[in-house]
Amino acid sequence: MPKYAYLQGEFIPLEDANVSIMTHAFLYGTAVFEGIRAYWSDKDNQLYIFRAKEHYERLANSCRIMRMDPGHTVEEMTEITRVLLEKNEMKGNAYIRPMVYKCNHQVGVKLSGLDDDFLLFATEMGDYLDLSKGLRCKVSSWRHVSDNAIPMRCKCSGAYANAALIKTEALDDGYDEAIVLTDDGHVSEGSAENIFIVRGGKLVTPPETDDLLPGITRDTVMVLAEKVLNIPVEIRRIDRTELYIAEEAFFCGTGAQIAPITSVDNRPIGNGEVGPISKKMQEIYFQVVRGQLKEFSHWCTPVFK
Ligand SMILES: Cc1ncc(COP(=O)(O)O)c(C=O)c1O
Repeated sequence: MPKYAYLQGEFIPLEDANVSIMTHAFLYGTAVFEGIRAYWSDKDNQLYIFRAKEHYERLANSCRIMRMDPGHTVEEMTEITRVLLEKNEMKGNAYIRPMVYKCNHQVGVKLSGLDDDFLLFATEMGDYLDLSKGLRCKVSSWRHVSDNAIPMRCKCSGAYANAALIKTEALDDGYDEAIVLTDDGHVSEGSAENIFIVRGGKLVTPPETDDLLPGITRDTVMVLAEKVLNIPVEIRRIDRTELYIAEEAFFCGTGAQIAPITSVDNRPIGNGEVGPISKKMQEIYFQVVRGQLKEFSHWCTPVFK
């Protein structure tokens, strides 16, 4: 277990890092957060935080939407993260959860005139989804929260009630994960991950305007597709039935990593096995996050000096 967390401007023992039951963020979901991974490299004897800058830039954007002030620059938050991992002597894969939240002990649902705090904890973490086989997915009966309800450009904790309903239905129905549609019936994303399909040899993913979280891994996949795999990427709306006739499909996300999908609504994707592009993308991704591809080593922040 990690020893320290960061709360109210200090590194303190994890067991003391608690908030009151009257905290505004707990009462109303008024918190924004990130999920960041750090990967251990045996080769370099080093822990690398993956794309910290982009995660903290997104956190800053989330704060803008929710009228919050993280109280730190992107560079400061990255350094606090590095120090926390160092203090916890984490020498294995880790998951980092920064959060900016409305910290007043106050009843009354609004965003203005309240105080904000930045907190951070880290924990050991393995795979979030099973990567050893393809995932069986269903299209959720729930619709995705829309930009005019709870905007996903803001990674707000309250929005994850929607994700919990989506994921629970999929698990209760015997599937591994769900794909969620926008209010007008187009593919948006998974419960906590973005989606790519392969059609005509091209990677296709829905646009940011289809209510999805603009994922850092989604961006990583697009860069790797074009720069390493030489596969064109198309950003456009995807119909539900395109899922059924795709050559391949996979989820991507910090938690999910690259998770191939092998069936949707009981229809096999391609030949029902993990496809070659998904497999290749997974292999390259795991090299990149451990700083093994020089071209992308600027994405990896070393923890230990
Ligand atoms: C709803 C949702 N979509 C997509 C993603 C993937 O985003 P990222 O690649 O930045 O982790 C996440 C990540 O947690 C998520 O919660």
